[in-house]
Amino acid sequence: MAKNFDVVVIGGGPGGYIAAIRAAQLGFNTACIDEWKNKDGKPAPGGTCTNVGCIPSKALLQSSENFEHAGKHFADHGINVSGLALDLAKMLARKDTVVKQNNDGILFLFKKNKVAFFHGRGSFAGPSTGSGRTGGEGRTEGDGYEIQVTGAAEETLVAKHVIVATGSSARALPGAPFDEDNILSNDGALRIPAVPKKLVLIGSGVIGLEMGSVWRRLGAEVTVLEALPTFLGAVDEQIAKEAHKAFVKQGMKIELGVKVGEIRNGGAGKGVSVAYTTAKGEALTLEVDKLVVSIGRVPNTNGLNHEAVGLKLDERGAVVVDDQCRTSLPNVWAIGDVVRGPMLAHKAEEEGVAVAERIAGQHGHVNFNTIPWVIYTSPEIAWVGQTEQQLKAAGVKYKAGTFPFMANGRARALGDTTGMVKFLADATTDEILGVHMVGPMASELISEAVVAMEFRASSEDIARICHAHPSLSEATKEAALAVDKRSLNF
Ligand code: FAD
Ligand code: NAI
Repeated sequence: MAKNFDVVVIGGGPGGYIAAIRAAQLGFNTACIDEWKNKDGKPAPGGTCTNVGCIPSKALLQSSENFEHAGKHFADHGINVSGLALDLAKMLARKDTVVKQNNDGILFLFKKNKVAFFHGRGSFAGPSTGSGRTGGEGRTEGDGYEIQVTGAAEETLVAKHVIVATGSSARALPGAPFDEDNILSNDGALRIPAVPKKLVLIGSGVIGLEMGSVWRRLGAEVTVLEALPTFLGAVDEQIAKEAHKAFVKQGMKIELGVKVGEIRNGGAGKGVSVAYTTAKGEALTLEVDKLVVSIGRVPNTNGLNHEAVGLKLDERGAVVVDDQCRTSLPNVWAIGDVVRGPMLAHKAEEEGVAVAERIAGQHGHVNFNTIPWVIYTSPEIAWVGQTEQQLKAAGVKYKAGTFPFMANGRARALGDTTGMVKFLADATTDEILGVHMVGPMASELISEAVVAMEFRASSEDIARICHAHPSLSEATKEAALAVDKRSLNF
């Protein structure tokens, strides 16, 4: 017997589980299907973000930063540490515990909100008419879809609305499939059992820099090979330059403009050889213990059986949606990494909430101009809105103000003075067009800029707001003051 639902969400990552909870809050009879299982085969909702993305990477970034501080920076504070030792197994186990707490939290939230959870793969079996008939004939807007669940749960669900939230997976390099032993995706990179002596990461994007930082801090010799000639091309140039300087000073080798050639996987315990050509045309080969490939991600649409209902995909395999997350089919929506736009957990969540509200006839909205980005390295990099190079390219007249953390009392007290805050404001109206940061706790500081831009504030609005002293947020106020060249502490 098929089970009927108002809303069925396929995928329980941050997009899907949040969409399901919001739909249930709005009074819909809601189900969420997710196939992720932990190493015991038990349900592990939360998707890439919870299992092999945001959460475990931040756990390891924190642990490895603590290790580096204890070894290199505590002495500056008059704290001498002797016998410092790394217990990597414990560090990885702690990360797994943090992940499990999040998985369990989501299962609890499903129960609390009366979302029916099905552990397995969800795929389209075909359209279903309101009268219970299946098949394409006589379909109307009011009819639904039949979804087959296979795996731990075997069920047929009938849904009036379907939200596809199946996420993304790591892209492999041609000829170098992931074995998660020598050639690692983000998954393997989060569970290397012993610190590799030599580690290469291909792609100096977000994962390359975050995972490269983790393993460098724990003792690996890290090289990052990047195809593009510019470092972090999407980041404001001035900020990217500052970050590049900091990473190189920390000992990370970053080679830009390379062409990666043959990759030879030596097999268990034998490492990998990576041939590449440098920007100057020199042919080199690196022999390393482990290789992480972090060259972007591909949408997960393989298991959906989208052909059964004619759901349209684009040439990358992403589900085609409009700016409201409507797909080519009535009452089928898609959100998060499986559609266009930045692959970020909070973007997926916002789309999930907006879609549930649109299903309820409300006016859910996602403002793509104010989605923050954060790279959780040290220094952290965070931004919202437009970069200086984008404004120049668009011919927008702007004013810029910067303030270095070196001149911020709290940063000096913390012993972490790398970086700056940068404001870009419209030359005529003073409206904030972009805020860019590299430095301590940029991940937290960026929220103020997001709120300001959401309310279309001017740089003067921020400059005139009282900020606690001493705090890193004073650097934000000072950068806003600097837009009109009236910074007080620099
Ligand atoms: P996903 O999280 O990928 O979830 C999709 C879920 O659907 C998965 O559980 C999958 O198993 C399931 N699924 C797929 N197909 C089916 C099917 N047919 N039936 C049932 N279930 C199915 N973003 C940030 O904002 N901040 C960060 O700090 C951050 N760090 C990251 C670190 C790493 C290493 C990686 C890889 C990514 C990181 N991201 C981060 C990106 C973030 O993880 C994604 O943007 C986010 O998870 C996308 O959410 P989603 O719900 O669209 O998809
Ligand atoms: P990315 O898109 O951030 O970076 C990929 C990099 O690889 C680019 O610089 C690209 O030029 C380079 N590249 C591509 N092909 C290459 C090749 N053949 N040889 C050498 N370099 C090559 O992708 P990444 O790091 O895999 O992360 C995927 C996505 O996951 C991110 O874009 C982001 O959306 C999300 N993510 C977010 C995080 C956060 O918010 N803190 C953390 C980690 C991931």
